[in-house]
Amino acid sequence: VSWRVVVAGAGAIGTRVAAELEAGRVEGCRLAAVLDSKTDDATVEAALRGADLLVEASSNAAARELLPRAFDAGLRVLLCSCGVLADRALEQDLRRRGVVVGTHVLVPAGAIGGLDILGAASRAAASPDDVTVRHTTTKRPAALGLPQLLQEAVVVFRGSAREAALAYPLTSNSSVALALATTGLDHVEVVVVADPAATGTRHRIELAAPVGRYDFLIENTVSPGSGGRTSEITAWSVVSALASIARSGPAPADGARPVALGSPVVMPGHTSVIRTP
Ligand SMILES: NC(=O)c1ccc[n+]([C@@H]2O[C@H](COP(=O)([O-])OP(=O)(O)OC[C@H]3O[C@@H](n4cnc5c(N)ncnc54)[C@H](O)[C@@H]3O)[C@@H](O)[C@H]2O)c1
Repeated sequence: VSWRVVVAGAGAIGTRVAAELEAGRVEGCRLAAVLDSKTDDATVEAALRGADLLVEASSNAAARELLPRAFDAGLRVLLCSCGVLADRALEQDLRRRGVVVGTHVLVPAGAIGGLDILGAASRAAASPDDVTVRHTTTKRPAALGLPQLLQEAVVVFRGSAREAALAYPLTSNSSVALALATTGLDHVEVVVVADPAATGTRHRIELAAPVGRYDFLIENTVSPGSGGRTSEITAWSVVSALASIARSGPAPADGARPVALGSPVVMPGHTSVIRTP
């Protein structure tokens, strides 16, 4: 077992991921530590120094703090709070550190899927302008921080994936993962619908490109206790991504070698927010 994994976050995602690791059910990986908001600084530092990969399943604020520390310690990061990548200041900071999305920072497909064909169709186009991508997310109002009093479904946001990540930081991670896999944060259109009748979360992903037209509907059950925000599938996407990473080979000793990744991890399509300088 070669990949020592630190899990940051003991909530809807982190608890499940840590349990699977601890039970030895993620081939090629073992649980090194679990961090939560109460973990003291020295313990965080020791945990990072003793690991190969950080599963970030905490919060946007914690992700911003943990990312540079993890890279300083030579770790790969599987980033659940990937909405933070929409922040241009963070993007620049990571670029200065030589951090590359798809190599050092890995984004799980999370609550959505089909990113392999959508990424391929985006790559096949001569320009991102030849591809249109729309992501419509429907959640119950409470999951979007809105009162449950609405009488009917209403569109509460329409904009780019980058704008969505800034406007709805708690619920836009899937849009960011989709954008990273396809035409980029400024090309993907995001529509957010608050529906008082929604029980779970619905994602409709529509992509039209010269090579084809794709229309996916994804309906997820939400994790109990997540306030309707986190789909149960997300933790399993992280577990699949870990198994895929471990299948690519042993943990790199020098912290520098890229890992070859299978489909559960988002590979940058046309554009990635972070490129090698
Ligand atoms: N990529 C996706 O598709 C996707 C889907 C759902 C949620 N998310 C994101 O993943 C993250 C975790 O989601 P969740 O539903 O498990 O959240 P949650 O609220 O259930 O749990 C968050 C956990 O993070 C811990 N935490 C807070 N600050 C921390 C810190 N500084 N260091 C370590 N741990 C800290 C908390 O103690 C808590 O245990 C959130 O940012 C969420 O927006 C991503």
